[in-house]
Amino acid sequence: MTKDTNTFTKDNAGNLDQTLRPGTWEEYIGQAKIKENLRILLTAARERGHSAEHILLYGPPGLGKTTLAYLISKTLGTNMRITSGPAIERVGDLAAILTNLSPGDVLFIDEIHRLSKSIEEVLYPAMESGVLDIIIGKGPSARTVQLELPPFTLVAATTRISLLSSPLRSRFSGGTFRLDFYSEEEIGQILTRSANLLGVPTDASVIDSIAARCRATPRTANYLLKRCRDLAQLDGAPISRDIVDRTFSLLEVDELGLGKPDRAVLSAIITKFGGGPVGLGTIAAATGEEASTIEDVIEPYLIRLGLLERTPRGRIASASAISHLEN
Ligand code: ADE
Repeated sequence: MTKDTNTFTKDNAGNLDQTLRPGTWEEYIGQAKIKENLRILLTAARERGHSAEHILLYGPPGLGKTTLAYLISKTLGTNMRITSGPAIERVGDLAAILTNLSPGDVLFIDEIHRLSKSIEEVLYPAMESGVLDIIIGKGPSARTVQLELPPFTLVAATTRISLLSSPLRSRFSGGTFRLDFYSEEEIGQILTRSANLLGVPTDASVIDSIAARCRATPRTANYLLKRCRDLAQLDGAPISRDIVDRTFSLLEVDELGLGKPDRAVLSAIITKFGGGPVGLGTIAAATGEEASTIEDVIEPYLIRLGLLERTPRGRIASASAISHLEN
């Protein structure tokens, strides 16, 4: 049966920290264009007394897609039901979720690229016409029953927009929004707020050094701050630059914010494949990382730093990747 559909919590692996999660648009730092577009879309829908149109959010993990979904439902003044592509295993799971929605609810489907084709096909008419086509029975006596659904807004998130079929993509009539990495200044603001909420004193140099090494990702920034807090607590001292440096060294995070898996990917391309071009599957086999983890989590930041290039013939490590690993 369907798992995880009726509470706003992600599992531990999803790392949605309830204490640090922004609860208002004002607290949500960055992604200014997306916020502005959503504000107009949602306010207009609310004023018309309609449910808002369906919204697709995409981008690397940890940039705040789930938090945006939560803020969308809060703005609409409705409940949010949360589920994910892999949790919807059968058509019946989706049918159960959709028929249990209250009018106007937000349905959040995380990792929507992992929905199976047969489930996508049930979702299309639900998104477009608010109906659910269910086939009852098998063989010649099978018949289709159409159920009318309460109006709802689907907010879907994915790290892999390229895996969504174009019919599915085209049904997000409210818009498709790409979340960007954050600037160091934005991360600094997020960290300052988090440190206040956690009650840990910090100074600007601590904030700046975490901001510089968090892969431009709020989830990672908050994770690093909490690990610094742990070490500071054991030392019985406030978080200092020395504590930050020791934490990074313990976690093997380097001065660009790269961790072991990032360096393993670059190192494999450089030392085993002459700098590339080399295919994703080959890199996955050489490093023991899943191809999807390399593509969704590791590569986007390496590309942003100019350390890696994706070309039609494969991945290439840049000259700066070579000099970074030599240091
Ligand atoms: N935590 C995660 N994403 C955030 C954001 N954009 N602003 C503030 N806190 C966050």
